[in-house]
Amino acid sequence: MSELIFEKSKHGCTGCSLTHLDVPQAEIDIPTRAGIGLPTLSEPEVVRHFTNLSRKNFALDIGFYPLGSCTMKYNPKVNEDMAALPGFAQLHPYQPDSSAQGALELLWELDRALCEITGMDRFTLQPAAGAHGELTGLFLIARYFQEKGQKRDIVLVPDSAHGTNPASAALAGCQVVVVRSDSRGGVDLEDLKAKLSDRVMALMLTNPNTLGLFDENILTIAELVHAVGGLLYYDGANLEGTCGYARPGDMGFDVVHVNLHKTFSTPHGGGGPGSGPVGVKEMLEPFLPVPVVTKKADGAFALDWERPQTIGMMRSFLGNFLVAVKAYTYILSLGGTGLRQMTADAVLNANYLLSLVKGTYELPYDRICKHEFVLSTHKFGQWGLKVTDVAKRLLDKGFHAPTIAFPLIVDGALMVEPTETESKGTLESFAKALLEIEEEARTHPELLKEAPRHTPVRRIDDVAANRSPVLRWK
Ligand SMILES: Cc1ncc(COP(=O)(O)O)c(C=O)c1O
Repeated sequence: MSELIFEKSKHGCTGCSLTHLDVPQAEIDIPTRAGIGLPTLSEPEVVRHFTNLSRKNFALDIGFYPLGSCTMKYNPKVNEDMAALPGFAQLHPYQPDSSAQGALELLWELDRALCEITGMDRFTLQPAAGAHGELTGLFLIARYFQEKGQKRDIVLVPDSAHGTNPASAALAGCQVVVVRSDSRGGVDLEDLKAKLSDRVMALMLTNPNTLGLFDENILTIAELVHAVGGLLYYDGANLEGTCGYARPGDMGFDVVHVNLHKTFSTPHGGGGPGSGPVGVKEMLEPFLPVPVVTKKADGAFALDWERPQTIGMMRSFLGNFLVAVKAYTYILSLGGTGLRQMTADAVLNANYLLSLVKGTYELPYDRICKHEFVLSTHKFGQWGLKVTDVAKRLLDKGFHAPTIAFPLIVDGALMVEPTETESKGTLESFAKALLEIEEEARTHPELLKEAPRHTPVRRIDDVAANRSPVLRWK
């Protein structure tokens, strides 16, 4: 482990030298640097410290990062160039609308593009992440039923759902009822029917789901939920499985969130910030958070705050604006045809990789997948190994580990999302590593138990980290 910057601190060292004071020194009552206890080092030492730390990190721009349900794909650098344009980067959120017309137009156009992609009527770009979008969407639905005078408090969530779905529903004050998956990994229609009632506010669904499988019964599911007066919420965090081919709006969904920081190619996973815009069908539009960008008859853009039925603000200002700039750049660079190709390539890559490892690794729901697939490492148990051991061994072989232990319905789940930006060669070397690991597990299980051996930080004590976390340096 490298030394902490606090430990490197040398008394009296400074990273800057100010010119001689030519005005009287004022006494101000704020904590001084020394009082706060910040480290003191010279500028080159600070630069070296952080550069060295960054070299110990794994990142998307260093290697393959097949983290399922996370879409860790290459983020084109042109997105950053656009977000750094002074007209965007130096805008102040309190500037008058008249001096921020370009920014407002971009938000308006991004809203239009997302509506076209998802089949919705209007978006809010305010939510700061996917989970925040879920909460916003559920507040919108709750408000809709409140206006209709209906008391509905149940949110149905499949057992394959991403953990944020039930968490958001609980946070929105709803009761979560779990719907079972069927043997093909889709929603069990009989279980769904049994759980439908006039108390159901919404069904939250991801399609393709977290197993990477598309639920072909989606139109029936939508009909069933609508028949009891409930609405359908689409968790569109990962849109690589359908974008350009199928739209949640056409499948019968009433609300959708998308993660700009996944499919729409803006950095996340420590490189954020994120953005989880929420799209709605027309009947939910009056409830959208304020302000909403509008286009006036003369073509000028403005922020509309006068919306009496709004749920209010979900976050300050207009959301993470520069993330919107990056996503809009990405959408424009690819265009409709490019987005369709993105999906086709993501699905092809996932299925190709799956074909290389299937058989050696168990595939509990054996179907053609969309953008990701979930293997089971159940059989590693016979050699005294768990999915964590497989994941840690992958680190030694130079790869970021896939998502593990999720979805919960797969024992020892290894959830792999290669994304469309990886080459055939990369997919093949990753498959080779997975096959080697399976052989090592059979012949030298200690190699997996002791992994990772070649990373700056070796295996941490998960139990101690959970039970007695050390969250402060001193
Ligand atoms: C299917 C799904 N839903 C929701 C989320 C939550 O998104 P966020 O991490 O931006 O809150 C994720 C993110 O991992 C996801 O994969």
